[in-house]
Amino acid sequence: MTFKEIHTQFHLKLDAEYGKNEVDAMFFLLSEQFLNKKRIDLSLTPYNMLVDIELSQLTEALNRLQNNEPIQYIIGTTYFYGLEFKVNQHTLIPRPETEELVSLAIESLKPHHVDSDKINILDIGTGTGCIAISLAKLIGNAHVFALDISSQALKIAQENAALNAVEVSFIETDILKETNWTENFKNIQFDVIISNPPYVRELEKAQMKDNVLNFEPTSALFVSDEDPLIFYRAIAKFASEYMKPNGLLFFEINQYLAQETKKMLEMHNFETIEIYQDLSGNDRMIKATK
Ligand SMILES: C[S@@+](CC[C@H](N)C(=O)[O-])C[C@H]1O[C@@H](n2cnc3c(N)ncnc32)[C@H](O)[C@@H]1O
Repeated sequence: MTFKEIHTQFHLKLDAEYGKNEVDAMFFLLSEQFLNKKRIDLSLTPYNMLVDIELSQLTEALNRLQNNEPIQYIIGTTYFYGLEFKVNQHTLIPRPETEELVSLAIESLKPHHVDSDKINILDIGTGTGCIAISLAKLIGNAHVFALDISSQALKIAQENAALNAVEVSFIETDILKETNWTENFKNIQFDVIISNPPYVRELEKAQMKDNVLNFEPTSALFVSDEDPLIFYRAIAKFASEYMKPNGLLFFEINQYLAQETKKMLEMHNFETIEIYQDLSGNDRMIKATK
């Protein structure tokens, strides 16, 4: 089969679901990856015959896309905050909203950049490590810690730290188990705690697309309808014990629960609690001072 013929197959099988432009973007991304050539070179030689391995890789990718699998899992990498991150079925695919959370943290921490003292930052529920690694890359004087309950996610996060040439102290633990706290953080006080914890209620599943529901890890996304703030409450309590006075807490939040999350933080005596909107205008982040 020629390159042009497989390109046509992609359009025939995927245009209805993804639209022509998106299919082109995905096709060339996959082709660049599997054929190891730039898009311009591929476009200039459309009638080249594909060798068996190239054809089978592109055909398999086409089948997976037809099955609604996110392209990031097929390629195995994505970009976040201008950095490359490996992803797999054990990690959430980093989202643009979370880049906004990282921006908010970096902006808020600018005054600390001039301070030569190290600041301790903890990312709770690190997944691919996207938040922790971006902060380690951009904040020179930070000692970044990152925890997750999933050993498989932490394995990818460790690979991502190496890929991006930063040091992050990774910890495997369940943040909801208070008995783990002293064990892991006996002599540490944090200047900054940041988290994008699971926050989607079961009742919101109906609004979600198959590519998320069928492929992304359930444990990274969902909380019960009865107690949707379970992670925020645990982290607020953790922060009141393991964060320095005047320390900063950053959360990505469920847009429908912004006021409840703010109230919960007030009950834990946090101050100057501010809600921020993402680029789509949804309440998506909270910053609070201890
Ligand atoms: C919404 S994902 C965020 C991943 C990543 N920080 C990001 O922003 O793309 C939530 C993460 O929390 C982790 N997690 C779930 N339950 C946890 C628990 N009880 N303790 C620690 N981490 C947990 C999941 O494994 C997942 O990696």
